[in-house]
Amino acid sequence: MTETTASSAPEILTRQDKGVLEIEFNRPGKKNAFTSEMYATMAAALEEAEADPAVRVILFRGAEDVFTAGNDIEDFMRRPPRTDDAPVFRFLVAASRATKPLLAAVNGPAVGIGTTLLLHCELVYAGENARFSLPFTNLGVVPEFGSSYLLPLVAGYQRAAELLLLGEPFGAAKAVEVGIVTRVTPPAETLRVAREAAAKLVALPQKSIRLTKALMKSAHAAAVQAQLLAEGNHFRALLAEPAAREALSAFMEKRRPDFSKL
Ligand code: COA
Repeated sequence: MTETTASSAPEILTRQDKGVLEIEFNRPGKKNAFTSEMYATMAAALEEAEADPAVRVILFRGAEDVFTAGNDIEDFMRRPPRTDDAPVFRFLVAASRATKPLLAAVNGPAVGIGTTLLLHCELVYAGENARFSLPFTNLGVVPEFGSSYLLPLVAGYQRAAELLLLGEPFGAAKAVEVGIVTRVTPPAETLRVAREAAAKLVALPQKSIRLTKALMKSAHAAAVQAQLLAEGNHFRALLAEPAAREALSAFMEKRRPDFSKL
């Protein structure tokens, strides 16, 4: 087994063993919120995995009580992504184009990108304590990671509309119902169950696995990439507007946002 702490972001741990690359979010003090450095490190890990024949499957994981609180809001305010080659965007493109199976073991909160990432995973295992949310309208921005395309496709239009327009948190049972979680487990079992599934995929003929994934993805691949760009343009523009400034400042100041004048 090789275990590394990636040079640029020590909060991302990567571990490669028996064909599986685990990408672990490890920033417990900030609920695993993602900074630009963490996105850059994850993008690099995915790009390297794509080229490395020893990696057959990629597994995203957090801790037993938290997957991720999504984008680091302070980092977002200080250094908003300005272009399509920002680290966050590099990560979105690398994950959405990955040709090897992506798995996730989710416990606790999975906010924003913590939930939209799952739309790009083939197998998602969630603890009974998992709590998903897509709070984009609450933050004055729009959905990202192709979720405005993929969630209606996976969940059906009205179920997606409820989750994306209201942005309210939902639990593991609802996540199964809308089609973004494969199986619910006790939190202490989630990682083991995900690792077992990863090991099964590793043992199967890799050409069949990758072609099956490619065939399942092909009908929507171009549309997903186009939607990533369209969402990114709106997201960046809205981040500079008063509603997002108010929502993000309110989070940092631990108060409720006031949109009454916007
Ligand atoms: N960005 C930056 N800091 C974050 C963060 C984020 N997305 N999420 C949590 N944190 C920080 C908190 O500010 C707090 O820091 P402090 O101890 O220095 O005050 C610490 O992490 C713990 O968070 P807290 O809110 O106290 O934990 P909780 O268990 O009560 O709630 C969450 C956990 C994830 C439900 C809650 O933190 C949350 O809703 N976070 C924001 C999620 C969000 O809107 N993300 C943006 C998606 S685009």
